Amino acid sequence: MSRFPVTRMRRLRENATVRRMLTEVAIEPRHLVLPVFVCPGEGVSSEIASMPGVRHWSVDRLPEIVEPAAEAGVKAFLFFGLPTYKDEDGSSAFDPEQPVQRALRFLRGRYPEFFLIADTCMCEYTSHGHCGHLRGDGSVDNDATLALLARAAVSQAQAGAHMVAPSDMMDGRVGALRSALDGAGLQSVGIMSYAAKLASAFYGPFRDAAGSSPKFGDRRGYQLPPANPREIVRDALMDVDEGADMLIVKPAGPCLDIAARLRERTELPMAGYMVSGEYMMLKCAVSSGALDGERAMLEYHLSIRRAGCDLVITYYAAELARLLSEMN
Ligand code: PBG
Repeated sequence: MSRFPVTRMRRLRENATVRRMLTEVAIEPRHLVLPVFVCPGEGVSSEIASMPGVRHWSVDRLPEIVEPAAEAGVKAFLFFGLPTYKDEDGSSAFDPEQPVQRALRFLRGRYPEFFLIADTCMCEYTSHGHCGHLRGDGSVDNDATLALLARAAVSQAQAGAHMVAPSDMMDGRVGALRSALDGAGLQSVGIMSYAAKLASAFYGPFRDAAGSSPKFGDRRGYQLPPANPREIVRDALMDVDEGADMLIVKPAGPCLDIAARLRERTELPMAGYMVSGEYMMLKCAVSSGALDGERAMLEYHLSIRRAGCDLVITYYAAELARLLSEMN
């Protein structure tokens, strides 16, 4: 047993050099993934009202966001799209001429060292804003949705995505995507599944940014119940069995316990997604003067790594990477 006064923990803390030598968890630019919202049109770069500091980009102006990020060491991007049209079954999700597919083709050709991830879901593309095919009673039809998601994933992979990231929370989507990708000869395209995606209030600003709020009801029929840690872990482990290559836990901060539990149950790489509401929480606290922005940003992201996440998906990716490089 370590007992005071023989043991004094402060011996390891009082000197700045030994503190630095003993740092257990590191966060570096290579751990970060930057989400990017791609919109139709040309010459567009407009700030998103619900997420100050984050912008909608048309394909031609993407270099202005990805190049500075890459210079800071962030070379992985997660794409969301604002389509030119929406319908009942979200067919713009698998239209090769829509913004995400165009962005993937453009970037894959131009920046071969990037790692491109496409968010695969229906809610940005359906007229009703739910994440799949609706039955007459307004509920989402799981198995009919799998076919739509598979078409979207294949279309994104054909456009140049290295990985697809299903965020819909239908049962069986990872298996369905794996066989659709393999069937289309896309065996090398990976699946980064939103394995533990909670029905969360923290997606609010994103839904304004992506125009993906459900027109009626909510997503509790498919996203996971925040009060049920065992159910969340069970659901996430199904994605492992179905062949996911990486897992995502989200929203990251409120799910640190889930990340830590999953870290004990699987060897798969894992990402924590610091979502739009967490980004805004920190932004607002900093702009009100309540928090030191740099220190709070560092500590928040470090906590996600400490919980067991290899990667952090974050709107702060470029800013944080710049700060980390300055500190070195
Ligand atoms: C699409 C999707 C959402 C987010 C990522 N993919 C929104 C939702 O499920 O309502 C949230 C990301 C964020 O809040 O930053 N289903």
